[in-house]
Amino acid sequence: MKYVIGVDLGTSAVKLLLVNKLGEVVHEVSKSYPLIQEKTGYSEQDPEEWVRQTTEGIKELISTSNVNADDIEGMSFSGQMHGLVLLDENNDVLRNAILWNDTRTTQQCEEIYKKVGKERFISITKNLALEGFTLPKILWVKENEPELFAKVKLFVLPKDYLRYRITGNLEMEYSDAAGTSLLDISAKQWSEEICKLLEINMAICPPLVNSYDNVGKITPSFALQTGLAESTDVFAGGADNACGAIGSGILTEGKTFASIGTSGVVLSYEENGDKDYKGKVHYFNHSAPDAYYSMGVTLSAGHSLEWFKNVFAEGEDFETLLSEIDNVPVGSNGLLFTPYLVGERTPHADSSIRASFIGMDSSHKRRDFARAVIEGITFSLNESIEIFRENGKIIETIYSIGGGAKNEAWLQMQADIFNATIVKLNSEQGPGMGAAMLAAFGIGWYPSLEACAAKFLQEAETYQPILSNVEKYHSLFRIYKRVYGQTADINKELMHFRS
Ligand code: XUL
Repeated sequence: MKYVIGVDLGTSAVKLLLVNKLGEVVHEVSKSYPLIQEKTGYSEQDPEEWVRQTTEGIKELISTSNVNADDIEGMSFSGQMHGLVLLDENNDVLRNAILWNDTRTTQQCEEIYKKVGKERFISITKNLALEGFTLPKILWVKENEPELFAKVKLFVLPKDYLRYRITGNLEMEYSDAAGTSLLDISAKQWSEEICKLLEINMAICPPLVNSYDNVGKITPSFALQTGLAESTDVFAGGADNACGAIGSGILTEGKTFASIGTSGVVLSYEENGDKDYKGKVHYFNHSAPDAYYSMGVTLSAGHSLEWFKNVFAEGEDFETLLSEIDNVPVGSNGLLFTPYLVGERTPHADSSIRASFIGMDSSHKRRDFARAVIEGITFSLNESIEIFRENGKIIETIYSIGGGAKNEAWLQMQADIFNATIVKLNSEQGPGMGAAMLAAFGIGWYPSLEACAAKFLQEAETYQPILSNVEKYHSLFRIYKRVYGQTADINKELMHFRS
């Protein structure tokens, strides 16, 4: 049997999947690394940690799976998006990477609109200037660390740096480049206009390749450290959301997934790069050939539940917490939660908004709060689905992946709130599986990603909306949507009291 490795370089851990030619995950290893949060809004990581944990993880994957390394034919990557890695002339890392969930760059986003013009910027990049994206981070370093910035030779994204340490070659692929705010999305070229207006030397932008392009082989030293064979082919890989889409079979127009991980994402396939959502949802190049996708992001999805568990159910596991929600009716006995713990992206691009519980009553128990948190996360994702539907997309079926696909009550809730059939796949590996599929397609195991998906992915369960719940949630969703407007100004003022 032949194998590929899918490397999913996430925010809290790197997950390594060993996948055979039939699409079966035969072995899996996960290695975590910390976030570095020096101040409110700051979120960094040491790129060396990504390399160290991936090296350890692959070594463990090979030694514990008893697979002959020569049978591992290919390897590809899924990467956390937007993170800025700055390299000097020797390709050495100049500072910690600044991650997608770092929000220090509000001023730089304003500067981008002032110098490029908001409409022009959106027409080139198809997205708003958001704190989490890469360009404002580049400007922040340029303004705040000028001596260090003078040494910058190239910028790359997290998985590009990891891949460089594995192959010795540096490049960026389109799906991740799309999240930098420096790519002309439709033309698939770095935007000379944006670089010029913001006085960024275009030479720091790396060469661009396709996600499924072969970008080299394993270096002798990486092979020695991990046990991989030097003959293993390496493929560029994709942004985690693009890989999540591939790993859930989102490969034709209208196909949509809802992913509930740390952040929550609703993503829909787009055939071309010229649809105009006016920046209301993100619009990126797909990792599939000549395709695009649109998506809305809830910054704090699984993170909200994790926060709730850590603060109010310390020491308990998610299953116990979630088992309580079955005993609470739709609407959590009149308690609403908005999941804005770290600001929000879609539909409110606002880094100062914070979360609320509205309607607390002395009769409420912890289980009402737990259900309200889950309903609030799902309402937030529904706001993205509403934007898609308002723009003419027909969304009748949604593939559910990530943590939200692990719990039956939550899957039914998604069907009821989204008013759509929810499909759970046999594998909710999403991004890691998508990375493995890019390698499988790149090597030539399958003639297309669709053919690979037909082999690798199967529908496991479906959930249909329950009409009476749909109606109740429809009314509650209208109330939910009013909370943002009523709390936005209050939170701006409260910001001065946050440390
Ligand atoms: C997407 C985004 C997140 C990260 C998480 O725009 O910021 O989904 O990719 O890894």
